[in-house]
Amino acid sequence: MSKRFYLTTAIDYVNGSPHLGHAYEKVVADVMARARRSRGEAVFFLTGLDEHGQKVQQAAQERGQSPKSYCDELAVQWRDFVARLGISNDEFVRTTEPRHQRVVQALLSRLHAGDHFYKAEYRGFYSVKEETFLTEKDRNPDGTWHPQWGEVTELVEENWYFRLGRHQAWLLEHIETHPDFIQPETRRNEVLGFLRTQPLADLCISRPAARLSWGIPLPFDPAYVTYVWFDALVNYFSIPAALGDPGTAGLLGPEFQAPTGGPEAWPPDVHLIGKDILKFHAVYWPVMLKVLGAPLPATLLAHGWWQKDGAKLSKSTGNVVDPLAVIAEWGLDAFRYYVVRELDIGPDGNWTDDGFRARYNAELANGLGNLVNRSVSMLRKYRGGVVPAVSQDLAPEAAATVRDTTAALDHHGLQEALVLVWGLVNRANQYVDQTRPFTLAKDPAQAARLDEVLYNLVEVCRILAVLLWPFMPDTAGRIFAQLRLEGAPDRLALAAWGGLAPGHTIGDPVPLFPRKDLAKS
Ligand code: MSP
Repeated sequence: MSKRFYLTTAIDYVNGSPHLGHAYEKVVADVMARARRSRGEAVFFLTGLDEHGQKVQQAAQERGQSPKSYCDELAVQWRDFVARLGISNDEFVRTTEPRHQRVVQALLSRLHAGDHFYKAEYRGFYSVKEETFLTEKDRNPDGTWHPQWGEVTELVEENWYFRLGRHQAWLLEHIETHPDFIQPETRRNEVLGFLRTQPLADLCISRPAARLSWGIPLPFDPAYVTYVWFDALVNYFSIPAALGDPGTAGLLGPEFQAPTGGPEAWPPDVHLIGKDILKFHAVYWPVMLKVLGAPLPATLLAHGWWQKDGAKLSKSTGNVVDPLAVIAEWGLDAFRYYVVRELDIGPDGNWTDDGFRARYNAELANGLGNLVNRSVSMLRKYRGGVVPAVSQDLAPEAAATVRDTTAALDHHGLQEALVLVWGLVNRANQYVDQTRPFTLAKDPAQAARLDEVLYNLVEVCRILAVLLWPFMPDTAGRIFAQLRLEGAPDRLALAAWGGLAPGHTIGDPVPLFPRKDLAKS
């Protein structure tokens, strides 16, 4: 076996309910995972939940529940959300699971033994909402705190610190010499700018258990629990380690027992995260791994944030997009298509219901849906559904699309890949308009030409199913079903021209995307 492509999403805070931002990140990761599998690569795709910390403890208290039962209840909802988005994750991590906690504690013991921690008094300001300490820089000029931080409290307490500061030089060099480590470029420059100009402070990695009990106890000082970010970041390592990934073997010391034969996943290929949590991943995480002696992830890929109608998503103002409601009305694949097509990985995006509807009608119903529907219908009507001899009219364009989308996906250009696929959709629709099969059908002398045209159309539909499978697995499967092809369109190798065998009989047309323009306007 060779190393799997290891891909992760951020793990979501379990409090609150899943929204568009969470859904987007998972769909993007899922497209990346499926695209790799389609090319024959073995993938390890991890997502899950971040369940410790003060926010969760407070939310549970407000409901008169224990944090554990609160998390267990919400975890059901979050897992269901992941399933309803059609996410093909291999594992789902909850940071309250013993398999995760055991690794966090082993790692803490290791780092403690290696003198990477020290105890000191802390005096300063803390934002519970963001689970982070603040500095004077975070203060407004008038001394107040920005609402982003929520309630800010002043604390004086002893805590454990991670000697992060001494790692600035190599970290900076690592980022400078590994241009792919932080993507996109704008985010990389932000981190470089920060590391070049500001001294890296040591990181507080504990919270006194007296104040916050909902966390993983420090194995070397039970009066403390682990800082939630230190705990959460480790999820990317804990699951492969707990499963016995050979890439993690031995790193936690001889006391750590793990099964053998786990996934060959470590180190991660891509950590997909939102731009707001880049610093945790670009600074704390590599240093944690370095001191552990673990190989570093190849890429931190930071996506932008969604807004709706030009304003921040916010439950309190009601400015929200409920992905499950959108899916109930328009279908899962329409949702998956829109979020990936609308927003490239990097910049911020803006959801508008009109924009969604416009893409649905123009690109899905009238574009792809119409092409498949008329191609299948015409082959049934004019040739009883029997595939004619192979013809090559659209073969060069199809091959170019396969090549270019593969290249786009290689550099995480998911939006670009969809634009390219729609280039082929539009070309095939234009081909219908140019060749006019309905006119050819009226003239028996044009029978051979009609055969050629029909072959090109159904074969393009088949190839589109293969190209679209990572993005819209259900739609891709439905195209295959209409063509009465066995199996799923889940291997890119199937996209070679000429796969539809002459003499094969296809099925009946079934609309992929019912038109909604009339009902909605
Ligand atoms: N628990 C931490 C992550 C720990 S990873 C070791 C966390 N959780 S979160 O629930 O707040 O966010 C989860 C992910 O969703 C993050 O990558 C975040 O950037 C993303 N998004 C949250 N709101 C978003 C939008 N409005 N738009 C796009 N993504 C957003 O942070």
